[in-house]
Amino acid sequence: MAKNKNIILVGAQWGDEGKGKIIDVLMDQVGVVVRTQGGNNAGHTVFINNEKYVLHLVPSGILHKDKKCIIGNGVVIDPVGLKAEIEGLISRGIHVDGNLFISETAHVVLPYHRILDAQREVLKGKQKIGTTKRGIGPAYADKAYRTGLRMLDLIDIDRFSELLKQRIKDNNKILKILGAKPLSYKKVFEEYKEAAEYLKPYVVNTVVLLHEEIRKGSGILFEGAQGTFLDIDHGTYPYVTSSNTTAGGACTGSGVPPTKIDTVIGVVKAYTTRVGEGPLPTENQYISDLLHSMGREFGATTGRPRRCGWFDAVAVRHAVMINGIERLAVTNLDGLDTVDVIKICIGYKYGSQKYDYVPSDVNILARVEPIYAEFEGWKTPTTNAKSWKELPRKTKDYLNAISELTGARPSIISVGPDRSQTIFV
Ligand code: GDP
Ligand code: IMO
Ligand code: MG
Repeated sequence: MAKNKNIILVGAQWGDEGKGKIIDVLMDQVGVVVRTQGGNNAGHTVFINNEKYVLHLVPSGILHKDKKCIIGNGVVIDPVGLKAEIEGLISRGIHVDGNLFISETAHVVLPYHRILDAQREVLKGKQKIGTTKRGIGPAYADKAYRTGLRMLDLIDIDRFSELLKQRIKDNNKILKILGAKPLSYKKVFEEYKEAAEYLKPYVVNTVVLLHEEIRKGSGILFEGAQGTFLDIDHGTYPYVTSSNTTAGGACTGSGVPPTKIDTVIGVVKAYTTRVGEGPLPTENQYISDLLHSMGREFGATTGRPRRCGWFDAVAVRHAVMINGIERLAVTNLDGLDTVDVIKICIGYKYGSQKYDYVPSDVNILARVEPIYAEFEGWKTPTTNAKSWKELPRKTKDYLNAISELTGARPSIISVGPDRSQTIFV
């Protein structure tokens, strides 16, 4: 692949597609990596020499020493969580000073956001979303209400003190109505002041910085968080997160215009997973049990078991369309190594109606019946394959079918969590 391109990388399913790993293997082709949406609801896993790193807010490129890592304006930042994450990286010998930059206009997640998130889930009862309880929804809601605080407010301690006092007063009224304990301004202020002082040196105008890098031709990798069907506009609303996880979010969340983007890569698993509530047409008990029995598919942020199912070509084709995905990275191919008959969903049926795209109405999506094509399993470990040539013929047939059915060619294939277990086609 050509170096120094500006590449948007998005999850093309329901999140946890293996974006962290793919970002890590693409880092030698760019100078900069930027997160543009979401917050510490994300959990991106990178394995290097059997060492596991899980990144929540810091871009996954941080494990590469000389690359610039940016947390863009579209991200919502829990400063206490971010401080802990940076400290954790430093304690493991990861170089952070001088290569991590935080947008001054990114919004701040405050303790009342987390409490409101949890409390609203309780009130929803059976209709809960199954959020990560990181306060993401309420923080983005405050941004839209124009009552949010931004990083530039946080690091100006006098201004922060004043604004926080008012916000806590307002939010305590709501917390009281919801039956939650009110917050102490003093306690929150002390905790956030410490985080603010710690993070201040990293806070800059990242829009200007990104454009300087673009002028230099550094190559920017936009690290998507969550996945296409968790997008607030295009996902399975209301069972979604609160940001634009699709390709457009990379532009608004960074200040880099669409005319500067060279390509979009979509990351998919060779099957499907989802964590949290909401429809998942190809959900399947056999494949869930199989993957869980291998110790796989537990959430990187909350530890919850992920719901698993067959590859849904209808959904991925839809994701290819709305993101402009030109190439796919297919991960976790090895998860299917022992399966006798592998299925791919090629259409949905609902009564007499057939769908070859994802219906917008979540009540319909929850009731559709998948139409499957079946593929003979390859029943051979793929974990040591180093090239397309070394993959079993039946594996190639499966990948070719994904290519045809989705309209995007798999050009990166991952057969294990480690950097070395990656095939470029
Ligand atoms: P992300 O949120 O998209 O970055 O994905 P997560 O890190 O939450 O979940 C993906 C999981 O799959 C992680 O545990 C990765 O280490 C793991 N993983 C990624 N690619 C592969 C692969 O090809 N094979 C196996 N066995 N694991 C993989
Ligand atoms: P990465 O970046 C998978 C899901 C939650 C819930 C819904 C809303 O690791 O792929 P939120 O806390 O965002 O309000 O929860 O979105 N969710 C994710 N699922 N991967 C993620 O991130 C997710 N981030 C949020 O489980 O269903
Ligand atoms: Mg994840």
